Amino acid sequence: MNTHTSPPVFLEKLVPPRLRRVEKTAPVVCRNGDVPEMKVLSVTSEIFPLVKTGGLADVTGSLPKALEPFGVETTSLIPGYPQVMRQLAEADPAPERVATIEDLLGTHAVILKVRIDNLNLLVLDAPELYHRPGGPYVDADGTDHPDNWRRFAALSKAAAEIGGGLIPGWRPDVIHTHDWQSALTSVYLRHMGIDMPSVITIHNIAFQGQYGADVLPLIGLPSSLYAMDGMEYFGDISFLKGGLQMADAITTVSPTYAREVLTPRFGMGMDGILNERVSVLRGIVNGIDLDIWDPATDPHLPRNYDVSTLRRKRDNKTVLLQRFGLDMDDGPVFSAVSRLTWQKGFDMFADTADEVIFKGGKVIVFGQGDHAIEAQLLATAQRFPGRMSVHIGYDEPTAHLIHAGSDAIVQPSRFEPCGLTQLYALRYGCVPVVSRTGGLSETIIDANDAAMSARVATGVQFHPVTTDGLRLALRRAIHAYEDPKMWARLQNQAMKARFSWERSAQQYASVYTNLLRSNGQLATDTNSPGN
Ligand code: ADP
Ligand code: GLC
Repeated sequence: MNTHTSPPVFLEKLVPPRLRRVEKTAPVVCRNGDVPEMKVLSVTSEIFPLVKTGGLADVTGSLPKALEPFGVETTSLIPGYPQVMRQLAEADPAPERVATIEDLLGTHAVILKVRIDNLNLLVLDAPELYHRPGGPYVDADGTDHPDNWRRFAALSKAAAEIGGGLIPGWRPDVIHTHDWQSALTSVYLRHMGIDMPSVITIHNIAFQGQYGADVLPLIGLPSSLYAMDGMEYFGDISFLKGGLQMADAITTVSPTYAREVLTPRFGMGMDGILNERVSVLRGIVNGIDLDIWDPATDPHLPRNYDVSTLRRKRDNKTVLLQRFGLDMDDGPVFSAVSRLTWQKGFDMFADTADEVIFKGGKVIVFGQGDHAIEAQLLATAQRFPGRMSVHIGYDEPTAHLIHAGSDAIVQPSRFEPCGLTQLYALRYGCVPVVSRTGGLSETIIDANDAAMSARVATGVQFHPVTTDGLRLALRRAIHAYEDPKMWARLQNQAMKARFSWERSAQQYASVYTNLLRSNGQLATDTNSPGN
């Protein structure tokens, strides 16, 4: 069913009669029989390399390039945070002002078009909302910006207006939103009567954009959306729920997570609505950017290497140990580069790091997040000077060096929609030690006897996701390390695993195509060579 063209009855009531219904965009033409050429507007709160707090930025930054061979031209709408505006100031050619919104939820906004690092960008420059110290979501002290509801509602509303033809001469065919920060786009599209298919990708269902229902009038939406089949959510409203209700297609970042979110444990309150909309839900596993994460060319590494020159990895290990102030002996280095939160399970790693150290290994943890977990890890490191080093921080080059210099990467997540760290680890010949959940379970093949003899194993998995489970997995990994032949085989198989975007980009392209088809927007170019 195309829910876009047949809205639930209560939504019909929401479209005020004075709002014009915007015409459908011109038909999208299939030039070679079945590959349409289409324009997608991706709406995102972060994008690599301009602004990144986690995997969302990696995905929104690398998917556009991967979609090009499938006839999809992606333009990304992002907020004009200070770090984004600084990069715009250096852009060549200079940004072009393509639209103005006089009253975007009570503030003035300009849309700037620019191309940076092969990304087509539309930057929403609204100083009152985005020009401030801190990160995209938090202030300099790590506290959420108090008006995040308005900041991300504004991003979504601007996206919907672009869908409605705000920019002269350019209109997307499909809008792709990501997580709660842009989820309201689909709600605004409906509310404004704009006929434009939309997709929402759930990168992490734990973040839901939950606010009091009193914000509805402040973001230009009717109070009637405070309803079970609207945005009502446990007495509040949820931006994510709005998107899940009204987007035409829902994707999440691995097939396993797509199944998990249908259960109360992983659905985190959204399982009910996802079960209702299961017919439009699909899991598409993330890929990685093979140019940025390539040990053979990575500019952040003291020594480049590939699968045939794996011995050179040792030089990176030496630099890494020096950098983190650890003993220079030969023992295995087990590292983590991650948000340090309950989701990622690093409280469990603080309790089990001694397993690695007592067997002659060393531990590096680099990341930031929950202060209690940071403190727990720092306290553990104090017990093991020279053997365990914990650095609280965020730095892209250091993340690359850790993957290049470590023997194993530990990711004991309690839930993991996809996870990218383990994919980078594979490519850098680091053996991932991961919990069996979400994307981790389908991207890593456990080194059990059968997988070892079939020469397909790439890492160590554990389940149940408990401290004891992790301890056992660390023990198994060290045991494997003690057998140089077995370890070399694991590293080799890891480096040969393929997680390029190609297949997944094709799946996204088919999601877009299906939406256009059911929206009656596909036409065939009878003059094209394919016909
Ligand atoms: P999530 O998005 O849930 O944090 P992912 O594994 O999908 O997890 O992506 C995490 C991304 O953030 C990876 O690119 C990883 O290298 C990066 N990252 C995490 N912590 C740090 C850090 N402290 N410094 C630099 N990069 C980091
Ligand atoms: C989220 C998830 C992570 C995923 C990333 C990119 O932050 O926690 O598992 O890889 O988004 O999709």
